[in-house]
Amino acid sequence: MDVLIAIDGPSGAGKGTVARTVASQLNFRHIDTGAMYRAVAWRAQQLGIDLADGEAVAGVAETAVFTLSACVEIDGHDVTSAIRTPAMDAAAAVVARHPEVRRALVSRQREMGRLGGVVMEGRDIGTVVFPEADVKVYLDATPDERARRRAWDRAHTASQTSGAPDHVGQIAQALEARDQSDRTRAVSPLMPATDAVYLDTTGVPIDAVVSQVMALIRPRLRPVP
Ligand code: DC
Repeated sequence: MDVLIAIDGPSGAGKGTVARTVASQLNFRHIDTGAMYRAVAWRAQQLGIDLADGEAVAGVAETAVFTLSACVEIDGHDVTSAIRTPAMDAAAAVVARHPEVRRALVSRQREMGRLGGVVMEGRDIGTVVFPEADVKVYLDATPDERARRRAWDRAHTASQTSGAPDHVGQIAQALEARDQSDRTRAVSPLMPATDAVYLDTTGVPIDAVVSQVMALIRPRLRPVP
């Protein structure tokens, strides 16, 4: 099996950019597991399924056909921007609390990462999905910094009518609520794995974070035969 890199942490800690850049530098596949929870929430809503019904939502998670590349598709629907709205932030957090849904998605994520050569980002990759990952990184930043980054994140603001900075207060509140939901859920709450390298990215430019993560990975790469 080729190397598997787990990158976990709360929203706005820089996981997406770091995971994507590291994967591209290594020529590895990047898998954003948050996009899977979001896409399942979107598809369940589209099918008229009550998001409170864990079994029914898990049915979607078990059978959905995902495309996870520059675009996110579920069952043939391109949901790349539709899943990045405040309403879908909330819907994905609801879906992610159901143990049945987590079981289904964790099993699919294990299958996707089985052969390695993957950078997988999420909340429980180093703790639950791949506890044996070769490199585990937990990215964090202060709530203020994470809210500021989210406010400037084009993917998240594209669907809103106005630009970023005046929304920081609102975004900080929504992030706080979602963090609370992620950290206190009974199954796989957000927390660093005991053997993860904890990186506080507050005030650190993203390319410096990428360099730090690459420095952790380099010694673990298997020599090409
Ligand atoms: O990373 P994100 O904001 O796109 O994640 C969307 C939601 O899914 C968020 O509430 C956290 C949850 N999630 C999770 O519980 N486990 C993961 N591995 C990835 C995301």
